[in-house]
Amino acid sequence: MAKYVGAVDQGTTSTRFMIFDHSGKVIGVDQKEHEQIYPKPGWVEHDPMEIWERTQEVIAGALKKTGVMASDLAAVGVTNQRETTVVWEKATGKPIHNAIVWQDTRTDQICNELAKDGGQDRFREKVGLPLATYFSGPKVKWMLDNVPGAREKADKGELMFGNIDTWVIWNLTGGPKGGVHVTDVSNASRTMLMNLETLDWDPDMLKVMGIPRSMLPAIKASSEVYGKCMNSGLDGIPVAGDLGDQQAALFGQTCYDPGEAKNTYGTGCFMLLNTGTKPIQSKNGLLTTLGYKIGDQPAVYALEGSIAITGALVQWLRDNLKMIKKSPEIEDLAKTVDDSGGIYFVPAFSGLFAPYWKSDARGAIVGLTRYVNAGHIARAVLEATAYQTREVLDAMNKDSGVALKALKVDGGMVFNELLMQFQSDILGVPVIRPTVAETTALGAAYAAGLAVGFWAKVDDLRANWGKDKEWKPAMDEAKREKIYKGWKKAVTRTFDWVE
Ligand code: G3P
Repeated sequence: MAKYVGAVDQGTTSTRFMIFDHSGKVIGVDQKEHEQIYPKPGWVEHDPMEIWERTQEVIAGALKKTGVMASDLAAVGVTNQRETTVVWEKATGKPIHNAIVWQDTRTDQICNELAKDGGQDRFREKVGLPLATYFSGPKVKWMLDNVPGAREKADKGELMFGNIDTWVIWNLTGGPKGGVHVTDVSNASRTMLMNLETLDWDPDMLKVMGIPRSMLPAIKASSEVYGKCMNSGLDGIPVAGDLGDQQAALFGQTCYDPGEAKNTYGTGCFMLLNTGTKPIQSKNGLLTTLGYKIGDQPAVYALEGSIAITGALVQWLRDNLKMIKKSPEIEDLAKTVDDSGGIYFVPAFSGLFAPYWKSDARGAIVGLTRYVNAGHIARAVLEATAYQTREVLDAMNKDSGVALKALKVDGGMVFNELLMQFQSDILGVPVIRPTVAETTALGAAYAAGLAVGFWAKVDDLRANWGKDKEWKPAMDEAKREKIYKGWKKAVTRTFDWVE
């Protein structure tokens, strides 16, 4: 009897393989970073071959570290940075271009052109998303328009498109030697190409974007057996879970009832609210997205507030300004001061996502005086995460008509005590961290384990969720609203920056 389930978590900055037992406990993990490629301001790329190499290395690494045999795994799930776009040759498995990452803004012109006829929200009803550089459809169009020979090859059926889930699963299941070309509803809902009602590629959207259907993967449930691994030391193990990383975190946080929400603090921050089996259109700048679909059960939808830059701002402080050596050091630096010294740091590095959707915004530090030191900047960096989350929570409360009473959080930054306390202060509600903060990989493992009967039903998974820590608001209302007002003003200073 297999004792464990494995999960590949392919994120924006690193790849992990994690092994979980039946109680949801982490048995082992291996993790490797990959290169961030910035060819021009606003452009962000990854090398898909490097991502596939790192994936194989971390699988081998985690098995070796734990002594777990592949045959001990009931199934493997895959979760991924969403929207990041790969196009490759079917026959060779060679990408025709680097992956265009979700943060990349090069499709600005494409989006503006499409918005001329009907505005930024012209496709919202069909696909739940505004026209923005974030999503995959325009990124595929850019590759077909700009990589020499790409459109001809695509028209002949020689190319495949996939987000990172599709790329990893295709390679895991054999690549050019019979790999399965699939995605799940949660990832497909980030392309602007899937119809929210039919859960199939929308012919009108394909026409508008000029993308041949032959290059698209089959859209599957998030929890079902897609195929078997053919390599990476996992030969014969079923690949049985596929969820975009934010939806995987929703699943891992066991937000299975309408009204349940989580916020994940990674490269960016992504708050998702389960809205049940019908899509709800946002009136306040959120996205309508697929939460998950288990086998042949009805799909579950979510409202999402996406923030592009949160943890990435800490990395920027580390890598570009060299103000800290390791990301966690930001907390000590921020603690050297009592507040941000009157400054706000609005990290609109990839434009602004929810609730603004402004691709032409760019980052700004406002309120600077000679009083400001490195500690104040570190503090403003952390506070930016909390303020952006407040904006998203306000939008969510308006869209859903109910005020969220507490926020479940997960991801790397939730071990930063200063941030979590400030988050609770600025939201005015408790913030709760679960015992397993790696809920993204856990969610993918749950999806895979459910598909093969390792877990019988979602209710069994709730029993695995436990509270680790809770932060309660300690700031008085007047101060909260005063400093939040300052943030809102600072945000307006980033608008209309790119000509
Ligand atoms: O939509 C982008 C998101 O999926 C990226 O997540 O964890 O890689 O920052 P992460």
